[in-house]
Amino acid sequence: MSTTIEQLSTRHLLGIKDLNENDIQLILDTAANFKEVLNRPIKKVPSLRDITIANVFFENSTRTRLSFELAEKRLSADTINFAASSSSVSKGETLIDTVNNILAMKVDMIVMRHPYAGAGIFLSKHIDAQIVNAGDGAHEHPTQALLDSFSIRERFGDVAGRKVAIVGDILHSRVALSNILCLQKQGAEVMVCGPTTLIPKYISSLGVKVEHNLRKALQWCDVANMLRIQLERQEIGYFPSLREYSMLYGLNKDILDSLDKEITIMHPGPINRGVEITSDVADSKHSIILEQVENGVAVRMAVLYLLAGQRG
Ligand code: CP
Repeated sequence: MSTTIEQLSTRHLLGIKDLNENDIQLILDTAANFKEVLNRPIKKVPSLRDITIANVFFENSTRTRLSFELAEKRLSADTINFAASSSSVSKGETLIDTVNNILAMKVDMIVMRHPYAGAGIFLSKHIDAQIVNAGDGAHEHPTQALLDSFSIRERFGDVAGRKVAIVGDILHSRVALSNILCLQKQGAEVMVCGPTTLIPKYISSLGVKVEHNLRKALQWCDVANMLRIQLERQEIGYFPSLREYSMLYGLNKDILDSLDKEITIMHPGPINRGVEITSDVADSKHSIILEQVENGVAVRMAVLYLLAGQRG
């Protein structure tokens, strides 16, 4: 890696909204360098050996938490992990008190997942440390969108000009909004597809196409990003049943085989097999789901490395 760190235009990563086109290219190019490092026998670099990062998770996570932790370790940062479920949050400690107590232990950067939209933005106004949003409610999940773009770029050579359909529960998805913003900033065309009840009314104002027929969406796109139905964020009654959703919007081999083109299948995980996607599609040669997970480590290394370059 070069010893000169090119600068991001933002001190925190709270959402794709914070990034301009150059920032996104810088992150993806830096991630490509780190992916080369991760393919070497010695996968560790000393870049962040003077930095301590706390992963502060108020919601469950497998991929995001583990890949942030691995990214931090590959960069030689010191890292600590906080899970709200086993913390003093249950005794009534506030978010600001919790984070200020973590920072008192000489922590430099906070990676936070929180169930409330805007939690990272709120925190950034009350603490000094840099913050990386690892998912805030149904708002944004910027590193997921960046790793998705990295995976599309790796597959096709460029994101510009690609047609990406985001299928499923758009209303409750932070992955959808971050992906829409990230893909558009790179010149991709974006369509959302799902039942009317799971597509927010404002979505057309973002300049995305809206389609309610899965087959038409798949016939249009180069890439289908299949989203999980987020029952944890829904009240009862958005659609009659998961079975009916699966019949209308579930991606299976029959639909894929009926298209007159080949498309690439993505999914941010966790997958509900048999609901939004069947196993024979999720595990097929069209799927890059595990490549997305692999790329998550390199992309999060790039984000942490570049944000650390903002320090004095
Ligand atoms: N894609 C994603 O955010 O997965 P986790 O909830 O497991 O982190």
